[in-house]
Amino acid sequence: MTSDFSDKTALVTGAASGIGEAISQLLAERGATIVAVDRSDRTASVCDALPGDGHTFIRTDLTDATASVAIAAQLEATGTIPDILVNCAGIAVVKPAIDISASEWQSVIDVNLNAAFFLSQAIGGLMLTRGSGRIISIASQAATVALEGHVAYCASKSALLGMTRVLALEWASAGITVNTVSPTIVNTPMATAEWSGDKGDRARAAIPVGRFAEPAEVAGLVAYLASEESAMITGQDVRIDGGYTIA
Ligand SMILES: NC(=O)c1ccc[n+]([C@@H]2O[C@H](COP(=O)([O-])OP(=O)(O)OC[C@H]3O[C@@H](n4cnc5c(N)ncnc54)[C@H](O)[C@@H]3O)[C@@H](O)[C@H]2O)c1
Repeated sequence: MTSDFSDKTALVTGAASGIGEAISQLLAERGATIVAVDRSDRTASVCDALPGDGHTFIRTDLTDATASVAIAAQLEATGTIPDILVNCAGIAVVKPAIDISASEWQSVIDVNLNAAFFLSQAIGGLMLTRGSGRIISIASQAATVALEGHVAYCASKSALLGMTRVLALEWASAGITVNTVSPTIVNTPMATAEWSGDKGDRARAAIPVGRFAEPAEVAGLVAYLASEESAMITGQDVRIDGGYTIA
């Protein structure tokens, strides 16, 4: 059984590439109206290519102090209260912990954690008024296990899990579920920049199923958590990691 999102609006950040693009595509295929948010110059064309009608895009840098409030105000002005929020925009700076600069640390925290919180707060405020909603943030296996060279990334993704638990607790009685999805390495532009060649082969070998995940597989899990069927799941981190974190 697949869920029908025909009467639903989904705001997806990081929608112009990789996992966010796959999530937008799948939710649109199942009838959702997408609000695609990204800073990339691909945002408009990716939005235009989505199946179905009525999709819109907002091209913005989510680390701007006013971005989240401005997005919520823009949607509210048009009478649009998202049913689903997917925080997917993210970046990684990969270098040894001893070498990472203050600005590199801050840039990762700003996108992966701060933007996800302030957008959840802004859109969650609209959802609280209505009394329903689904918030899903893309964390990572790096939220749970150490990845060498990923100190800011691991910290940001672990913090996303803590943020999610508190939002889930505070908003459960208002009909809003809040969860994270934690993939292993996924075949996207972010991953191929880092996990190619011998390093990629070693990483694949360390994953019990022997391969990286596909964006569409992550999208399928997000669609489930966005559906009515998942109403009893909240405050959880759902791993989609081919068994990487089993042992
Ligand atoms: N690819 C992986 O291996 C992997 C694994 C686990 C988790 N993740 C997480 O999944 C999410 C998506 O990753 P991806 O692999 O699709 O990456 P990607 O680089 O393909 O896409 C990320 C998108 O986020 C957008 N973005 C980045 N910073 C932004 C900002 N400040 N404002 C607005 N948009 C911004 C980019 O423009 C881009 O379109 C990230 O949060 C990432 O940490 C990825």
